[in-house]
Amino acid sequence: MSISTDSDEIKYAKGLEGVIAAISGISFIDGDQGILVYRGFSIETLSKHSNYEEIVFLLLYGQLPTRAQLKELSDTMKEYRPIKFVMPAIRSFPKDAHPMDVVRSVVSLMGIYCPDKFDFSKDIKMQKVLRVVAKLPTIIAAYDRIRKGLEPIEPDNSLNHAENFLYMLNGEKPDELSAKIMDIMFILHADHGMNASTFSSMVTISTLSDVYSSITAAIGTLKGPLHGGANERVLKMLGEIGSPEKVEAWVEEALEERRKIMGFGHRVYKAYDPRAKILKKYAKKLGNNGEDNNLFEIGEKVEEIMLAKVGDKGIQPNVDFYSGIVLNHLGITTDIFTPIFAISRSAGWGSHILEYLESNRLFRPRAIYNGPYHQEYIEIEDREGE
Ligand code: CMC
Repeated sequence: MSISTDSDEIKYAKGLEGVIAAISGISFIDGDQGILVYRGFSIETLSKHSNYEEIVFLLLYGQLPTRAQLKELSDTMKEYRPIKFVMPAIRSFPKDAHPMDVVRSVVSLMGIYCPDKFDFSKDIKMQKVLRVVAKLPTIIAAYDRIRKGLEPIEPDNSLNHAENFLYMLNGEKPDELSAKIMDIMFILHADHGMNASTFSSMVTISTLSDVYSSITAAIGTLKGPLHGGANERVLKMLGEIGSPEKVEAWVEEALEERRKIMGFGHRVYKAYDPRAKILKKYAKKLGNNGEDNNLFEIGEKVEEIMLAKVGDKGIQPNVDFYSGIVLNHLGITTDIFTPIFAISRSAGWGSHILEYLESNRLFRPRAIYNGPYHQEYIEIEDREGE
């Protein structure tokens, strides 16, 4: 659909599909080939050789850090890890709140308590981004423990971002494999072009609002099941299916009823999501470590049936499909899956808002009006009905 204006023709793209809304040097997706790169480095290379702190530097500063730069960034993140002013609020939240609502609310609160809240300089904006990146694991772990009747655990600065998160969550230092997998989880989710939550953060910052408001908007957007909330739904779906033998009938019925299968499909990828490929290997490996691998087997069967039925339409597994199985093997509670996505993606959101501000222009699209014109105003006493 298109509308004409005096000067030119404006095309309508539902859901902004295919619309180019910014120029960015942060990450690139080739949806036909199933390729994802951050600043020119493939996701496969980064997940093999890098670590989350290095990715934060790469996304925010545009290049791999030197040893000294990485130490400086890691030290800053460690310095920002503790939470103080927001802790009473976290303690006061209902114990049945969804952790994504908690994270969204606490990041918003951080904007009130930030010592530099009225400083909008570039350096301070970077500091604010780093504060959010550094504190998210502490916030999530604290709420998870408090709702379970446990005391929050202080960050341990001898541990890296991923290790420390698992430590604050479980109260004990993680084994090497679990820490490595959490680090890879953080690397894989750190950025993904103009996805819905990143776009939300950019729309907010484009009004010259503040970093906390932008990231709060992004968290609210990530929460939905069509975006980051899918990982939690995938695990529920696999549990509902129950066993590999039941997969075919379940998927057929869901497709007949035109229900979306969570963890499949993507606006940009029409090939297999490269992040899902990496996570699938870990999902299989963790299951083969002697643990029950039923979830993986059900998942693999869902993949097989889905690819046979709708794979030719470009509906393939996305990152959320295998991430839930991996996180479940690590003993993570299901409603913490999407907050883990948020921990990681905060670096991407921060990078995009800072980049966009370099040549900011207000986001302000239009809609095609299909309401009535020229209505006659009738006084309330003359309207029909009670
Ligand atoms: N299961 C069944 N059918 C699907 C699915 C799915 N998961 N995804 C797309 N389709 C079908 C859809 O029914 C439609 O069919 P038709 O043309 O016959 O009406 C067609 O494919 C196009 O779907 P769409 O929803 O218009 O496509 P989109 O580009 O807006 O959708 C999506 C992208 C991610 C919203 C969608 O694939 C979906 O809802 N997937 C399930 C939720 C999910 O896994 N989300 C995580 C996305 S990846 C991680 C992230 O970014 O957070």
